Amino acid sequence: MQNPQSQQATDVIIETRNVSRVYPGVTALDQVNYRVYRNKVNVLIGENGAGKSTMMKMLAGVETPSSGEILLEGKPVSLTSTQQAEKRGISIIFQELNLFPNMNVMDNIFIANEFFQRGVINEKYQYALAKTLLERLELDVDPYAALGELGIGHQQLVEIARALSKDTRVLIMDEPTSALSQSEVRVLFNVIEQLKRRGVTIIYISHRLEELMEIGDHITIFRDGRFISEREVRDASVPWIIEQMVGDKKKHFDYHAAAQGDTILQVEGLTALHQNGGYKLNDVTFSLRKGEVIGIYGLLGAGRTELFKGLIGLMHCQSGSVLLNGENLAKRNFQQRLKRGIALVPEDRQAEGVVQLMSITANMTLSDLSLRGFRRALRMLNPGKENQRVNEMIGHLAIKVSDAELPITSLSGGNQQKVVLGKALMTGPKVVLLDEPTRGIDVGAKTDVYHLIGNLAQQGLAVMFSSSELDEVMALADRILVMADGRITADLPRAEATREKLISASTPQA
Ligand SMILES: Nc1ncnc2c1ncn2[C@@H]1O[C@H](COP(=O)(O)OP(=O)(O)OP(=O)(O)O)[C@@H](O)[C@H]1O
Ligand SMILES: [Mg+2]
Repeated sequence: MQNPQSQQATDVIIETRNVSRVYPGVTALDQVNYRVYRNKVNVLIGENGAGKSTMMKMLAGVETPSSGEILLEGKPVSLTSTQQAEKRGISIIFQELNLFPNMNVMDNIFIANEFFQRGVINEKYQYALAKTLLERLELDVDPYAALGELGIGHQQLVEIARALSKDTRVLIMDEPTSALSQSEVRVLFNVIEQLKRRGVTIIYISHRLEELMEIGDHITIFRDGRFISEREVRDASVPWIIEQMVGDKKKHFDYHAAAQGDTILQVEGLTALHQNGGYKLNDVTFSLRKGEVIGIYGLLGAGRTELFKGLIGLMHCQSGSVLLNGENLAKRNFQQRLKRGIALVPEDRQAEGVVQLMSITANMTLSDLSLRGFRRALRMLNPGKENQRVNEMIGHLAIKVSDAELPITSLSGGNQQKVVLGKALMTGPKVVLLDEPTRGIDVGAKTDVYHLIGNLAQQGLAVMFSSSELDEVMALADRILVMADGRITADLPRAEATREKLISASTPQA
């Protein structure tokens, strides 16, 4: 007590000293002194590409520092593999899902961490433990269910169950809630509280400020690969945090309605059934004009993703019609619809958006699947053209990248999301469907995406985007559709939309 210095020292469970990590062309971390406080929820925030995930990879043994050292309980440690880090009690839930869709839920939970009895996997024990863990997460899923059949939010909970199955002293969660619904976030927060009571130290990364303020005890801010500041959360205000994050690059978005033209998309009675009865889409009717921005608000599972998939032909609809410029698309498949001018930026960039091993350029130009011939011709005529367009797009979206020929996995999570966006725009669409376009994007870059959507509308494109953030829908959309249980429960012009109306329309009727 007498010596605050030593008091603090024992409160620090992990400390980095001058840790740097250099990749070709980028200094992801620059001489960072970062402290993790024992038995606290340590929240970490910073713009896309600030170095958060890179730091976590060092602590979890996935990557090693280029220089500097990591101290655990005051002693230097070398963490050169995840096994090594786990042996010391540090485990990580990655930003990007790290699971095997073809395997069942249980095997995903215990992979590389199986329980053996006399040399064979103790299946009975694992099953029981899996069940307990899933129940703790209030996830009503059979441990034998194939993982790939679960929605992305539930998959993320399975990833969390996997971390809970290990004996963990320090649990790192890198954007664990980006795919979770509000109620799933509540469950996760309860689990975090439980873990804390058992003495576990948590590191929690998120771009959602309200979450950080609620769950965090201690906040640290990184900017451009550097440590900027830290504080007790109770002493930190939102404006202070934003200022620390962005420095002097402040950004602001003003809504301007674009001039609206003719109806370009007309959807009538679109209905899709679940195999087990129930509706994925239930009699969905609306129309979209050129220059119009429609925001779709709804909770996870409300049918937003299904609507987009139905529109672009990735999901079969039993009845109803989709007219694009008056042409019925019923007989048109995904590729044909793409060619006619509908583009989709999917929600789950890992599964549907990016090809991990390919370069940023290749990923962006990949969307022209149906236009492959055109692209090949273009490349023969003018090999520089592709790169030029990619570079334009990188500039346009402010993607933080040192070299477009690097693999896409070299980008931070939020910047990968921007590549997926750029990819859809490269097809020269007339109607752009954006499924949760700002998921995993930092507050500054969100403004970039808002500007981009505004610009698309100004250019006469019709835009539809989904979001589970009320403020976002209200800030951006000319018109707001609310979905619940596969139905459209409200269709409101901007001026009539209030938080209350949107929330009440989004609540499924029991
Ligand atoms: N393997 C790699 N090769 C090259 N550059 C990399 C690699 N991994 C990360 N980087 C770069 O390091 C920087 C920091 O990335 P990092 O993933 O740590 O950011 P982040 O703070 O987690 O961002 P986000 O909020 O978008 O997830 C980025 O500029 C990124 O492009
Ligand atoms: Mg990250």
